[in-house]
Amino acid sequence: MSQIILAIESSCDETACSIIKDGKEILSNVVSSQINVHKKYGGVVPEVASRIHVENISVVIDEALKTANVSMEDVDAIAFTQGPGLIGSLHVGVQAAKTLAWAFNKPLVPLHHIIGHIYANGFVDKLMFPLLALVVSGGHTELVYMKDEWSFDILGTTQDDAIGEAYDKVARVLGLPYPGGPAIDKLAKEGKAHYTLPTPKTEKELDFSFSGLKSAVLQLIQREEKKGETIVPADLAYCFQETALDTLVNKTVKAVEKYQPKQVVLAGGVAANSRLREKMTERIGSMANVHLTIPPLWCCTDNAAMMGAAGSVAYRHQLFGELNCSANPCKEIDC
Ligand code: KG4
Ligand code: ZN
Repeated sequence: MSQIILAIESSCDETACSIIKDGKEILSNVVSSQINVHKKYGGVVPEVASRIHVENISVVIDEALKTANVSMEDVDAIAFTQGPGLIGSLHVGVQAAKTLAWAFNKPLVPLHHIIGHIYANGFVDKLMFPLLALVVSGGHTELVYMKDEWSFDILGTTQDDAIGEAYDKVARVLGLPYPGGPAIDKLAKEGKAHYTLPTPKTEKELDFSFSGLKSAVLQLIQREEKKGETIVPADLAYCFQETALDTLVNKTVKAVEKYQPKQVVLAGGVAANSRLREKMTERIGSMANVHLTIPPLWCCTDNAAMMGAAGSVAYRHQLFGELNCSANPCKEIDC
């Protein structure tokens, strides 16, 4: 018997619904992005984001079902992002999921957003355990070790800013548009190693820190301006990116050496970064006894197909939620 999951994602500024068959086959994947609205403000405005989710959610769900040619009767379970994310945004997806579950008497599968990003790799490769995930997004920078399917250990996390947040903030001081990640990725291609920036330091070997690096970029700009010099944005973008990405990749190499996973996967919006993909391929792709999986660009940034892939596994493990469950903006990855 085939298994059909309807998945909903609304944790930040994408309203998304996807229908996934047997965990891997994408029957539909509808994403309504709000980037063009938030661009005007230089970042996501939470209040605006939740209002747009309210306007779009039913249209997106309807389109996902129509495109998949699936009716609610065919659906086995409703998976949804419970957290982490923006509370107002999450509420809209959670409420939609609960309404469908109640009206059509379907089980609910509440999910952690990051688990979705990790399972997105299942669309391109079979996942092998133990697995190490480098999770890099607007809200997360984590090394997650999975001994088995649905077991999650955080080996390292950020002490301050997430990597995507650092990209977005540095982009803003360089006068680049939101979202800053893709803009820096593009500009850095024209840059060279002209500036020296400090390598981030952390107490724990596998933790991350990006706020010092972000401040160093800001101070460098102010220093140059005081001297009457103008900075070269492409060179500064290049130097910031090289420093930040080397930290990510060096720590991933250390974690591979220490924990010896069979597979390393990249996950999250920053996994779309062309230089990170290059560096991971050079350093991890060349290591013996470990298989590297890099997700295709379409499933790096937020979407509901990835939540459906994770939802399918959670459904098999019967990890169901109650109708009185709520959004949890600080949800922890649980085992
Ligand atoms: O996973 P995601 O869509 O949302 C969160 O879960 O946070 O990630 C969004 C983040 C943003 O900070 C954005 O600037 C960053 O991913 N991003 C990139 C690139 N594309 C998106 N960062 C660096 N290079 C990129 N090409
Ligand atoms: Zn995300």
